[in-house]
Amino acid sequence: MKQKLESIKQNVIECTKCELCKTRTNSVPGKGNFKSDVIFVGEAPGKNEDKNGEPFIGVAGKKLSAALEGAGILREQVYITNIVKCRPPKNRVPTTIERETCQDYLKQEISIIKPKIICVLGNTAFNSLLGGSEITKFRGKLVRKDNQLYFLTVHPAATIYNQELIKVLGKDIVKLFDLVTELKNKKKVKIDIEYTT
Ligand code: URA
Ligand code: SF4
Repeated sequence: MKQKLESIKQNVIECTKCELCKTRTNSVPGKGNFKSDVIFVGEAPGKNEDKNGEPFIGVAGKKLSAALEGAGILREQVYITNIVKCRPPKNRVPTTIERETCQDYLKQEISIIKPKIICVLGNTAFNSLLGGSEITKFRGKLVRKDNQLYFLTVHPAATIYNQELIKVLGKDIVKLFDLVTELKNKKKVKIDIEYTT
């Protein structure tokens, strides 16, 4: 398991499949506990991440860490990754082509880790993974699609200048880990949205 993730990581580091490889400093592979029950999926690396090659280490990352700690979880216990693994210039939203070109890496991460729940952080991840939009309307909800559970919440970067959203993110992350505990105890959880394909 660990070896397979290492090989994905190496492929991401060397990847030149899309235009973003030309402007990045470093690719940013996913990072964390490969036995995690939850994978967190953000949008794309920002400036700090591009500089250091690690996901969520800037201000947004601090917000994510704080929300995790509020739920009694350390970030080392979970696995954190992004829809695209290279920083878009000026932090623009990654294009459909970039997201599609990069999606195999995330698919591989998910198929190796087999998380109980994928935590979708913000609109770009929501749109890319589930075709959704307006995350603030749907946050806090548990979705099932193709036998995989997804939990929706706001992007940590959105909480930077917004005290209300900090509380929302904190509350959602607590709910997320309550759901994980219930799943581990084989309890039935309430699915808010069911995708039928
Ligand atoms: N924002 C993201 O979506 N991902 C990161 O890794 C950092 C900031
Ligand atoms: Fe490759 Fe993804 Fe980086 Fe594009 S964003 S170069 S597909 S790793």
